[in-house]
Amino acid sequence: MDLVKRSLKHIWNPCSQMKDYEQFPLLVIKSAKGSYVELENGQKLIDGISSWWCHSLGHGHPRLKAALLAQMEKFEHVIFADTTFEAIVKLSEKLANLTKTLKHVSFASDGSCAVEIAMKMSLHARYILGEHQRCKFMALENSYHGETGLALSVSDMGRFRAPYEASILPQAFLKGVPYVSSTDDPLWHDCSAVWPALEAQLNPHAATLTAFLVEPIVQGSAGMMIYSQDFLKRLRQWTKANNIHLIADEIMTGIGRTGLPLAFQYADIEPDFMCLSKGLTSGFLPFSVTLTTDAIYELFYDDYATGKTFFHSHTHSGNALGASVALACLEVMEQENIYTQVQDNALFLKNLMQELMDETGQLINLRHLGAIVAVDLVNPQNIPRLGHRVFQEALKRGAILRPLGNTLYWLPPLNIERDTLLDLQKITKAAIVAARV
Ligand SMILES: Cc1ncc(COP(=O)(O)O)c(C=O)c1O
Repeated sequence: MDLVKRSLKHIWNPCSQMKDYEQFPLLVIKSAKGSYVELENGQKLIDGISSWWCHSLGHGHPRLKAALLAQMEKFEHVIFADTTFEAIVKLSEKLANLTKTLKHVSFASDGSCAVEIAMKMSLHARYILGEHQRCKFMALENSYHGETGLALSVSDMGRFRAPYEASILPQAFLKGVPYVSSTDDPLWHDCSAVWPALEAQLNPHAATLTAFLVEPIVQGSAGMMIYSQDFLKRLRQWTKANNIHLIADEIMTGIGRTGLPLAFQYADIEPDFMCLSKGLTSGFLPFSVTLTTDAIYELFYDDYATGKTFFHSHTHSGNALGASVALACLEVMEQENIYTQVQDNALFLKNLMQELMDETGQLINLRHLGAIVAVDLVNPQNIPRLGHRVFQEALKRGAILRPLGNTLYWLPPLNIERDTLLDLQKITKAAIVAARV
């Protein structure tokens, strides 16, 4: 039996309608290097979405690989309660230096788990303080924070929630987020005209919220929706004034994706919690962190008998392979000037998409920031699953795109070559044309 048949016999792929694979065979991966994935049949595909947004330094970066192998020679994983080791200490020092106030790091394996930790720590802090009325969370409309119970409760994504709705904790969502097309949009700088209406929605929740969650500046799963930095600044002021924690979910945006190390730095704010994953190891390993402040950490710090221990553990918390790769990743980001490269390439990337819009006449709503650019496919004939068709046509021509519904976007490795971006543009154009035939 060939490999695809054997795969389909037992494997349930993520976020996939398995019946689709009757028409569209699974791709058999042979290898991946830099911005390319190579298939068993020899075809090379540009990874236009960094494999679900994580391969910020491309596949198989030699320095990350070396760090992984070097750690492997020492040990791969040891229980992380009661222990520590050099790579994770160095990593934590680097993470603590990313912001002025987030100095304490907890470790988990996936993004969703990092969000769970932040939400539970926030709730637990209220429990310690006796602020029992503060037991609710609020998030932005169109938000996505992961698939686990608490994270899903603050994700405003109908099709991800619907089957489980009866068991999902009810939370509030802020409507009317001031979305922008880029940092040139006037709303980016000043959202004072819409703020009063937003504040009016927030105020009824002021006494019951423990935390507000945001994907800072860019909401990935919503379709790469970018919002005003002034709005984030005002939201932060409001949370502070009302004794509400702000949880910054930088799982997609963190470590350079938007051109700054952290997206919330555009608003010049500091949250109470920050979650990182994906780009933190450039997608090498499942690894995530939650950072918080001295104030939160100290609330929990007491004699065991006072019952303030944060009883939350994952088997692979503090995984040594993940930690050593994350450390190498942060070093490469600095030493290879990746943040500057993202800023230098941002306009180039945007112009490529603009050209595609002009040439095809089939794309609208261009938005971009750093190494993210997105558009929506116009679909007057209501072609079913048009985005999916573009995805399939692009694969035939040499690129992985995987649009979000009818939102087409590029979110390539941050260190991608410009020539590869030009190829990505050509393939995307041909795929858009072919998808309508
Ligand atoms: C903003 C954000 N938060 C949380 C998650 C969940 O991360 P994971 O898939 O690693 O659990 C994602 C995943 O795409 C994300 O984009």
